[in-house]
Amino acid sequence: MLPKSVKIVEVGPRDGLQNEPTLVPTVAKIKLVEQLAEAGCSVIETGSFVSPKWVPQMADSAEVFHKIDRQNKVRYTALTPNLHGLQQAITAQVDEVAVFAAASEAFSQKNINCSIAESLERFTPVMKLAQQHRLPVRGYVSCVLGCPYEGNVSPQQVAQVSKQLLDMGCYEVSLGDTIGVGTPLKTQQMLEAVLSHASVDKLAVHFHDTYGQALANILMALQQGISVVDSAVSGLGGCPYAKGASGNVATEDLVYMLDGMNIKTGINLKKLAQAGLNMMQVLGRQSSSKVACALTA
Ligand code: HMG
Ligand code: MG
Repeated sequence: MLPKSVKIVEVGPRDGLQNEPTLVPTVAKIKLVEQLAEAGCSVIETGSFVSPKWVPQMADSAEVFHKIDRQNKVRYTALTPNLHGLQQAITAQVDEVAVFAAASEAFSQKNINCSIAESLERFTPVMKLAQQHRLPVRGYVSCVLGCPYEGNVSPQQVAQVSKQLLDMGCYEVSLGDTIGVGTPLKTQQMLEAVLSHASVDKLAVHFHDTYGQALANILMALQQGISVVDSAVSGLGGCPYAKGASGNVATEDLVYMLDGMNIKTGINLKKLAQAGLNMMQVLGRQSSSKVACALTA
């Protein structure tokens, strides 16, 4: 059975922009976040509190949080890999934070400079402080359908890391196909493994669209009962630690598909596409969203 509504987590301002080679002006980021809220996005991953040496593009996240005109019904979220990041996020008054782990050891080392086990240990004090501040914590698992360094990743390993994140108090785990290599049957097998340890209402999916499989994989996830999907306006992004990985599935394409299936998202496609096009003008290139291109043809 397909869900009647889907919560879209818009990750463009973070997952999208973190990978831009030239610095995007802070004012353009603020405008993007505000226009996404205006279009009806209810959860916007607005930035990340990571080392600016590792990801220079996110160095102005505190300023973005400080200057956005917030809407009550929108949750503005951020990545926090450690206590240092969480403390900054608390000061910036974020509504929700996310910790991020991987299902592959090599990716964990490249992305956050520690093993999977060390990353989970590092998250324990993060969870504790977040709970004290009543901040919901989301967990990400990267490389759920393949790793740029190790190749195949076992569904059992994905299930294990997901379970550990849920056990430590994450309210939801987002399963990331970081390099966009997954196909629908592999997606189904991975989800079945995770679902044998976790309930469906605690899971989200996060597909990068490198090989053009994201929408097909999302459809498979919806058929498995998943109703939270991450996407990035204009298909912005990639991953700084996964060479060749393209952006997330474009939010415009996802909304178009869900609208066509009568699944509610609360997002106005025209306004969303305009928000994306405004950012593409700043970046000086074409949108990766087929729907945005069709709407403006
Ligand atoms: P490290 O070098 O091992 O950390 O990095 P450290 O604790 O030894 O600190 C080194 C320096 O970084 C120190 O500064 C710290 O103060 C500073 P120094 O003394 O050298 O001047 N530092 C920080 N500064 C700002 N904010 C912080 C912070 N923490 C330490 N939070 C660390 C470990 C995790 C910090 C580093 O590896 C890092 O920042 N990595 C960034 C990883 C990242 O952002 N990746 C992209 C996001 S994940 C993703 O895209 C996947 C996802 O979309 C899902 C999917 O698609 O699969 C979520
Ligand atoms: Mg991602």
